[in-house]
Amino acid sequence: MLNISGITVRLGGRTILDRASAALPTGARVGLIGRNGAGKTTLMKVVAGLNDPDDGSIEMPKAARIGYIAQEAPAGDQTPFDAVLAADVERAALIAEEEQTDDPHRIADIHERLIAIDAHSAPARAARILVGLGFDEEMQGRPLDSYSGGWKMRVALAALLFSEPDILLLDEPSNHLDLEATLWLESFLKNTRATMLLISHERDLLNNVADHICHLEGGKTTLYAGGYDAFEKQRAERLAQLESARAAQEAQRAKLQDYIARNSARASTAKQAQSRAKALARMQPIAAAVEDPTLSFDFPSPDALKPPLVTLDLAAVGYTPGQPVLQRLNLRIDPDERVALLGRNGNGKPRSPACSPRNWHRWKAAWPHRARCASVISPSIRWRNWTRPIPRLNI
Ligand SMILES: Nc1ncnc2c1ncn2[C@@H]1O[C@H](COP(=O)(O)OP(=O)(O)O)[C@@H](O)[C@H]1O
Ligand SMILES: [Mg+2]
Repeated sequence: MLNISGITVRLGGRTILDRASAALPTGARVGLIGRNGAGKTTLMKVVAGLNDPDDGSIEMPKAARIGYIAQEAPAGDQTPFDAVLAADVERAALIAEEEQTDDPHRIADIHERLIAIDAHSAPARAARILVGLGFDEEMQGRPLDSYSGGWKMRVALAALLFSEPDILLLDEPSNHLDLEATLWLESFLKNTRATMLLISHERDLLNNVADHICHLEGGKTTLYAGGYDAFEKQRAERLAQLESARAAQEAQRAKLQDYIARNSARASTAKQAQSRAKALARMQPIAAAVEDPTLSFDFPSPDALKPPLVTLDLAAVGYTPGQPVLQRLNLRIDPDERVALLGRNGNGKPRSPACSPRNWHRWKAAWPHRARCASVISPSIRWRNWTRPIPRLNI
């Protein structure tokens, strides 16, 4: 059992968490959700023991080992494989001690313990996890410093999963993952026995992994049983119940006020009016449910164009002349098509012509003379009007 009890956190003069409480059963896989800035990371850091709350406490079994991804990605000339193996601190310490000691009794004890913790299967397990997260054999042996921040975070995630903690704390773990690795993570998490708190904005991941949803709103948490779809349904029902109770109360209030207004002055009914006024004063107002503000996008309608919208004929694209990232691309996009662009990280998706019309001059591509494109480049959306004639170029 992981008990989050009355946690209050104030940051920069604001109350971020306001007596947040939730009792998570042992082995529960809990999706922690809430809009950006709601305080999910803050709560997770309190559970991890990295931040002290202003009030409240976290209770868990004394011997429970907590796993949380460090903010800083691992670095140095260590390889991903070694970094992951080192995450099993006990195994690493035993092996180091075995190399140092000459005492045969101690060596026998160390061997016994290594067998007990299944240390011999550790390298294969570490490799399996790394492969799942996209590191092939060659990549597992390269120094960490040769990797980008996103790939280093994958190593941190691999190390965390490898160390098999009792309580697994994951803050948006799929941020650095491509679809393949996300699917792998999903099945890994489904099969882990750890009690899990998982912050994510991904409906599929939450539906497939979580068996509870902890919703953080207004500094308070509400725990729902089931995955994300079940949460949405229960929350909608709860809000509807709250709304109908509030409407019934409003009607009752209006009725009482009307009675009081009509009957207070008359001596024969003043007493009844007075008792109704008391009932009115005792009424606890039910607050109207406040929905979180949602962000809405307004994409202007593009001009109607005849197909094809984009045609790539053995196209090549890249940043440095003579060094194409993508080659021999054949693609046709017609109006009203919805195209999902998939691929492993580092495979050049943002460079792909469909995503990046700013690189049009490098393509051997045909565009209609008046095409309107949007490229979504996090965090902003840029609209471009391609109204000038675009020449066909051969690279
Ligand atoms: N060190 C800090 N000082 C002041 N405010 C902070 C600090 N860290 C986070 N906050 C604020 O606390 C709120 C909750 O942050 P966070 O827990 O990161 O939200 P979430 O993870 O739900 O997006 C945000 O409004 C954030 O700006
Ligand atoms: Mg966060």
